[in-house]
Amino acid sequence: MLSYLCLCIFMVPLALGASWIAPGAVWYDTDGKKINAHGGGVVQRESTFYWVGHSAENETPMMYSSTDLINWKNLGAQSTVSAMWRPKLAKPNGSFWLFGQQDRYSLSLKSSQLTGGYAQSAKVYIPPSSYSYSDTGMFHDPVSDTWYLLTSADHNTVQINKINTDGTLGSRASSLTAGAYEAPGLFYANGVYFLICSGKTGWRANPNKVFWATSLAGPWTGGTDIAPSGENTYGSQNTFELTISGSQKTTYIFMGDAWDSKGGVSSNYVWLPMTVDTSAKKVTLDYHAMWAVDVKTGAISSPKADKRYEANHVLSKRTDGGSSEITFRNVTGTGAMQWLAFDYTVNKRDGGEAYIIVNNEPPVNISSLNSRAGYHHVVPVQLRLEAGEDNTIVFGSMGQDDFEIAITGIESF
Ligand code: GLA
Repeated sequence: MLSYLCLCIFMVPLALGASWIAPGAVWYDTDGKKINAHGGGVVQRESTFYWVGHSAENETPMMYSSTDLINWKNLGAQSTVSAMWRPKLAKPNGSFWLFGQQDRYSLSLKSSQLTGGYAQSAKVYIPPSSYSYSDTGMFHDPVSDTWYLLTSADHNTVQINKINTDGTLGSRASSLTAGAYEAPGLFYANGVYFLICSGKTGWRANPNKVFWATSLAGPWTGGTDIAPSGENTYGSQNTFELTISGSQKTTYIFMGDAWDSKGGVSSNYVWLPMTVDTSAKKVTLDYHAMWAVDVKTGAISSPKADKRYEANHVLSKRTDGGSSEITFRNVTGTGAMQWLAFDYTVNKRDGGEAYIIVNNEPPVNISSLNSRAGYHHVVPVQLRLEAGEDNTIVFGSMGQDDFEIAITGIESF
């Protein structure tokens, strides 16, 4: 009995789960539930990060906390208010504020504490032109210690408004009139302000752009892609930029939403470090299938697999119409959620789907575990295998007659 108990105690930390940021994968909180904070942003207070975003079910602001940007504790719904899109945390004065979009108005909620108790303060059109707007963004200017609300005014013109020290919306600092843009986020690096925003394609991802200025008063110049344009921002839409001022380096992080077809519960998150060249005024997302940032030093790392299960198979539709599968046997499991990366390419992104069957459980489409499935050759997913060496994973392909998947292996971490 004693040894059984000890085993349980040792296994508890494993249940904490994710140790990497995997863009597009389903991310779980420390209770093992899917993280539900879309269109959000992250604010650091001392050594803790607070992530606020809207719930996919009813757009209530949700809050999570973490000290490593990986293991997130759910702090729950922050308000009884719903239908509030893209909530963002701000602290222009002694209170705590959430700004978001409701019915194309700017809605602000206020609380005397960081966590919970947010109640409506104001619901207004935005000065100075009484714009109807979409897509709340938030920026704390480290130079002037001032908060700015970002919006897409009349769903076209990205506008930057000061948040006054009493929490009301203040004057417009500048706007971006280069075209129709949404989902704005801002960050500051060595004298340059970078504004990242998306094009207007609804929930479908497009090549997000970066503009720059040396003052928040503008003018905004640029409009260059932050990723190869065919990647459509690695299948995501901007929501926020986070700066980690580490002891070794400052790391800038792009935070995007990998929306499902209607911005619903199957939406995931794409977070990536950025290379920022302040002389050339260039910002580039550095794609990693799995990565982490040391929040103290700012250093970025990627995992090394501890085991690889080789394969060299092209799966395609069989002539008898059956599905084409390969079976990996003797896969080592921990008994808790663990990362496995499926290494494969497809000949046509929309031609079909890969699925997996773990130990005779029902088949699962790999795209329901990672929005990047089929778009990148390393597709990390979190699975629960049995403890020991006896796990079996079937990897299969289904799709159009000419759809093919070339799989070269699975890695475990
Ligand atoms: C754009 C916006 C999203 C959402 C969708 C709805 O993508 O950026 O926040 O409003 O449109 O179609």
